[in-house]
Amino acid sequence: MDSAEKQLAILLEFGKVINRTKSLNEVLESMASFAREILHADRCSIFVYDKNRDELWSKVAQGCVPIRISANKGVAGYAALSKETQIVVDAYNDYRFNPDIDKTTGYLTQTILAVPLLDNQENTIGVFQALNKNKTIFTNVDAELLLLISNYAASAIENAILYDRLRDTQTKIINKLASAAEFKDQETSKHTKRVGLYSGLLAEHYGLSKEDIFKIEIAAPMHDAGKIGIPDKILLKQDKLTDEEFEIMKTHAKLGHDLLFDEENEYLKAAALIALEHHEKWDGTGYPYGKKGENISIFGRIVAIADVFDALISIRPYKAAWSFEKAHELLQQCQGTHFDPALIDIFNKNIKKIHTIYQELKD
Ligand code: C2E
Ligand code: SIN
Ligand code: SIN
Ligand code: SIN
Ligand code: FE
Ligand code: FE
Repeated sequence: MDSAEKQLAILLEFGKVINRTKSLNEVLESMASFAREILHADRCSIFVYDKNRDELWSKVAQGCVPIRISANKGVAGYAALSKETQIVVDAYNDYRFNPDIDKTTGYLTQTILAVPLLDNQENTIGVFQALNKNKTIFTNVDAELLLLISNYAASAIENAILYDRLRDTQTKIINKLASAAEFKDQETSKHTKRVGLYSGLLAEHYGLSKEDIFKIEIAAPMHDAGKIGIPDKILLKQDKLTDEEFEIMKTHAKLGHDLLFDEENEYLKAAALIALEHHEKWDGTGYPYGKKGENISIFGRIVAIADVFDALISIRPYKAAWSFEKAHELLQQCQGTHFDPALIDIFNKNIKKIHTIYQELKD
C-alpha cells in the first residue's frame, strides 16, 4: 500500500470513481473514505468554508454528526486561514488544537493532518482533515498524498458551487418570465407556484427521477407564458369567449413553446414541451395537436392536471373560484378522458398533501 506505484494505481482508480458518481456529497464521501484508507487514518472530514460567517462546516464527517466550527479556532481553522498544511503529532499538547469539539463528540483526538482546499484564485474553499493515524503519526508523505486528493475535492466543490449559482440564475429567469405572463393574465404568482408544487408532487409519486421532479417544478409554472401573445380583450374578457376568440386563445400553447424553447437549456426545453402539451387530453381531443395517451409526454400529462385543478380553485376574469371538493370531483369525472387515469389515481391517493399546498398557498 505504501509504494509509490500502488498509490498511483489507487489514485487512477479513484479518478474513475469520482467521474462516475454524480452528487457533490457522493464525491466528497468517496474522497473521504479513500483518504482514510490510503492514510491509515481513523477518520476523515471535509469542511466547506463559509466566508460570510467565517465558519467551517463539515460536508463529510465519518462517524459523527455534521458540525459547524469557527474558522478562527482549531487546526482546521489554521489550515483555512494560513492556506498551509498543518500536521499535529500530539493534539492535547499543541496550541493550535481546540478541544471543544472532542468535548461535544466524545472523541479523543491524538494526531491531525489538515490540508486547505483552494480554488483557482487560491482562495480557501474548505479543509480536508484526517484524524488519528493508526499506531503512528502523520508524515510529510501523508501530507503530499492528502494534498493530491484535495485537488480533486477542491475542484468538485468549486464546480458544485458554480452549478448551484447557474441553477439559481436559471430559476430566477424562469420565475421572472412566468410572472410576466401572470401580470397580463392577472393570475397570481401563487397560482404558478402551486402548479409547480402540484406537478412536483405528482411527478414524485409517479416515480420520476429527482432531476425530473426538480425540472418539472421549475418548468411547470411557465406553462402559460404564451398568453403574453394573446390580446388583452380576449385574455381579460369577463364573459365566455366566442368560438373565434377561443381559437386565438388556443394558440398560446404553441406560442409559449416557441418563446421558451432553447436547444441548449434543459429547463427551458422542458418548459417549452410543457407549454406545448398542457392542453392536450388523454383521449386525443385536446389542442394544439390532438395527441393521445402516452404520446403526450409525462410532463404534459402531469401539468394538464395541475393546471386545470388550480384554474378551477382560482378566480379568473371569466369565473369565480370553485371549492376544493368541487374541483377534485371534476378531475375524477375526467379520469381517462381528459386526464391520464394513472395520474388521477396518484392525485387521489395524495389528496391530503394536495390540500396542504392549497391551504398554505391560498390566494
Ligand atoms: P385558464 O383560465 O388557466 O384555464 C386552464 C384550463 O382549466 C382550461 O383550459 C380548462 O381546461 C380548465 N378550466 C378553467 N376554468 C374552468 C371552468 O370553469 N370549468 C371547466 N370545466 N374547466 C375550466 P382551456 O379551456 O383550454 O382554456 C385555456 C385558457 O383560455 C384559460 O386558461 C383561459 O385563459 C382562457 N379561457 C377559457 N375559457 C374562457 C372564457 O370563457 N372566458 C375567458 N375570458 N377566457 C377563457
Ligand atoms: C419540443 O419542445 O419541441 C421538444 C422538446 C423536447 O422533446 O425536449
Ligand atoms: C372536455 O373537457 O372536452 C371533456 C373531456 C372529458 O369529459 O374528460
Ligand atoms: C375543460 O376542459 O372544460 C375542463 C376539464 C374537463 O372537462 O376535462
Ligand atoms: Fe394554458
Ligand atoms: Fe394556468
